[in-house]
Amino acid sequence: MTQTPVIPAADEATPEAQTTTSTRRVAQLTGHLAPVNETEQANTRPQLPIEYPVSRLQFDPSHCIDHVRELKVAVIGAGLAGINAGILLPAKVPGVKLTIYEKNSDVSGTWLENTYPGVRCDIPAHVYQSTYSPNTQWSEIFAKGAEIRDYWQSEARKHDLYKVLKLRHRVDEAEWNDGQSQWHLQVHNLETGKTSTESFDFIITAIGRFNAWKLPDYPGLDGYKGVLRHTSSWDPSYDPTGKKVAVIGNGASGIQVVPNLQLISKHVTHFVRNPTWIATSWAGDERTFEPQPYADELRKSFDKPETYLAFRKELEDRYWRRFRAMVRGSSENEGMRELFIDVMKRRAAKKPELLDGLIPDFAPHCRRLTPGPGYLESLTEDNVELVKTPIRRFTTTGIETTDGNTYKFDAIFCATGANTDLVPPFPIKARGIDLNKAWKPEGKWGFPYTYMGMATPGFPNLFYVAGPHAAGPSGTVPQAVETGLTYIAKVMRKVSSQGIRSIAPLKEAADDFVDYCDAFFPTTVLTDNCSSWNNGGVPGQRIHGLWPGSAAHITIVRREPRWEDWEYERENKVNRFAYFGNGYTQAETEDDTDLTSYLRAPGQEVDLRDLHESWWDVPGARKLKKSSEQSA
Ligand SMILES: Cc1cc2nc3c(=O)[nH]c(=O)nc-3n(C[C@H](O)[C@H](O)[C@H](O)COP(=O)(O)OP(=O)(O)OC[C@H]3O[C@@H](n4cnc5c(N)ncnc54)[C@H](O)[C@@H]3O)c2cc1C
Ligand SMILES: NC(=O)c1ccc[n+]([C@@H]2O[C@H](COP(=O)([O-])OP(=O)(O)OC[C@H]3O[C@@H](n4cnc5c(N)ncnc54)[C@H](OP(=O)(O)O)[C@@H]3O)[C@@H](O)[C@H]2O)c1
Repeated sequence: MTQTPVIPAADEATPEAQTTTSTRRVAQLTGHLAPVNETEQANTRPQLPIEYPVSRLQFDPSHCIDHVRELKVAVIGAGLAGINAGILLPAKVPGVKLTIYEKNSDVSGTWLENTYPGVRCDIPAHVYQSTYSPNTQWSEIFAKGAEIRDYWQSEARKHDLYKVLKLRHRVDEAEWNDGQSQWHLQVHNLETGKTSTESFDFIITAIGRFNAWKLPDYPGLDGYKGVLRHTSSWDPSYDPTGKKVAVIGNGASGIQVVPNLQLISKHVTHFVRNPTWIATSWAGDERTFEPQPYADELRKSFDKPETYLAFRKELEDRYWRRFRAMVRGSSENEGMRELFIDVMKRRAAKKPELLDGLIPDFAPHCRRLTPGPGYLESLTEDNVELVKTPIRRFTTTGIETTDGNTYKFDAIFCATGANTDLVPPFPIKARGIDLNKAWKPEGKWGFPYTYMGMATPGFPNLFYVAGPHAAGPSGTVPQAVETGLTYIAKVMRKVSSQGIRSIAPLKEAADDFVDYCDAFFPTTVLTDNCSSWNNGGVPGQRIHGLWPGSAAHITIVRREPRWEDWEYERENKVNRFAYFGNGYTQAETEDDTDLTSYLRAPGQEVDLRDLHESWWDVPGARKLKKSSEQSA
């Protein structure tokens, strides 16, 4: 039998054609890959009875395509974002080896640290929880902080997270090593006081955006002799009952704590420096200062899964539909301004002069809404004074304002918020750049420069959860955290199964994302003249706190990673398909694997949109059912 020549006749005259047939064929077919001499040295393959093209790929005969590389992943932080990472990544990424570092003595972040009087969520707890493991038995609509803390801690226990948690371990620095394609973390053990260096393939920051709380930097603060606390670092042993106290700040925390202190303290002086909207509620929910418990009967009805699902869907749906209220000039936003003015006037009816200078020029939603039930009412009480004159300094006994007035206090509570710039509070360095410096207003980029809020060019194998642009202004934080982690899981699966050492977003892709944001945000009221955590506290600074679009929008964008927006460093520099390995799957060499899991019983419902789409349902991923199980 004659063989069809491999080399086209036209090529016979090329220089390669002057050599032996075998060498010529190699050169013709692999010349675009490597010089011939390297190829022949590199390749070992069986002796063939025929002449056949020679690859320069020396593949690993023991590598099956369903073998994955183990990925050592560090998650920094164990608030609800880190807890979700601990639950979802092991489920979604075969071969992931997780360590979660948390500086606190337990998990739950915000809800562990914030214990000031009145702390509770301001969107219903049934909405502010995971999508996959709901608590149907919340005691109140707007649950107290402790109940939310307990929920996330129970989730951590249920999913056995404590075995991968390193509590009381603070990450002080992260540095990327290009040679090793690894991150080196400086981890400080707060129990022993020792610092160690730990290496990981990936790091995920889940450090929270309000975790680096800050005291104001007024002169004399250190010399104040009374009790001084930040609301995020409340001292439970201090009882403000019957005391003269001050609260600085009218953000969400200040607005929650003032009416609660008013009830028990002898006198509350409330220092505010800018106006803020006091909202009705987020999505039309009734809000009262008093707790709003669920009736026993309703809670009992949630034992029926369909009843609970219908209840939650109705409640949660409203949070997905309020995006239009962010749109500049929308009737929804304009209507809100009138409504809030009306509500504020009614609430402060006893002392209308309180509202002088307290009604903002900026549109509602420029800053995060603060429903604040009971807040304005409390300001009208006789034991509360509102001070709008700026603070000049702290004295040993209290506060002096710029008009020369002095105030004496037993305790000063600073509801002055946290770093609003989303800059990580410790160095994260790669290729000569430190995010801790580069994201600051005076730094290289001047704002949190990211690709879709997930990663930054030049920082391989680094992802952010609940960081910049992490969630739409609608929807819910837990759902956005889950979809963010699902995106990261997809990237990790690609890396661990396709012979990739590192992955980072392309600069052009990140620049286009920033450019899109610059086009989008001016269409929203986020770019009004207010300081907020969306703009890093600086009006006019690029918006980076929220996603440029609705919650439904970000959910769609994150569904499929745009692989063309990433650059890769491969383990095998010769051939991108080296990870195809020996052509086998491990699963097919084992007898107890189900290689035909794609088959269904006749009549069994098949959703054709999903057919062959589940990443985990590949041949052999499931074990064969034993015959006893099959007949059951
Ligand atoms: C008082 C308060 C009330 C809020 N109420 C609501 C609400 O009603 N609805 C809503 O949607 N959002 C609310 N938020 C926002 C809330 O922060 C988020 O919804 C969510 O809890 C954030 O979770 P997280 O895991 O991203 O961050 P966090 O809960 O802040 O957790 C971050 C964790 O990282 C740890 N960490 C940080 N740095 C390091 C380090 N270097 N090393 C080790 N560990 C580190 C911290 O100790 C912390 O445990 C509120 C925030 C505050 C402060
Ligand atoms: N569930 C809830 O109800 C709830 C409760 C608390 C927090 N949160 C969340 O946490 C976020 C942060 O809330 P937060 O209240 O802690 O912080 P915040 O919203 O940033 O508010 C901080 C307040 O402190 C004031 N302030 C800061 N430095 C000051 C200084 N040196 N002198 C005087 N005033 C100063 C700010 O005034 P300026 O306005 O002038 O800057 C602002 O009023 C919220 O946006 C919200 O997302 C939610």
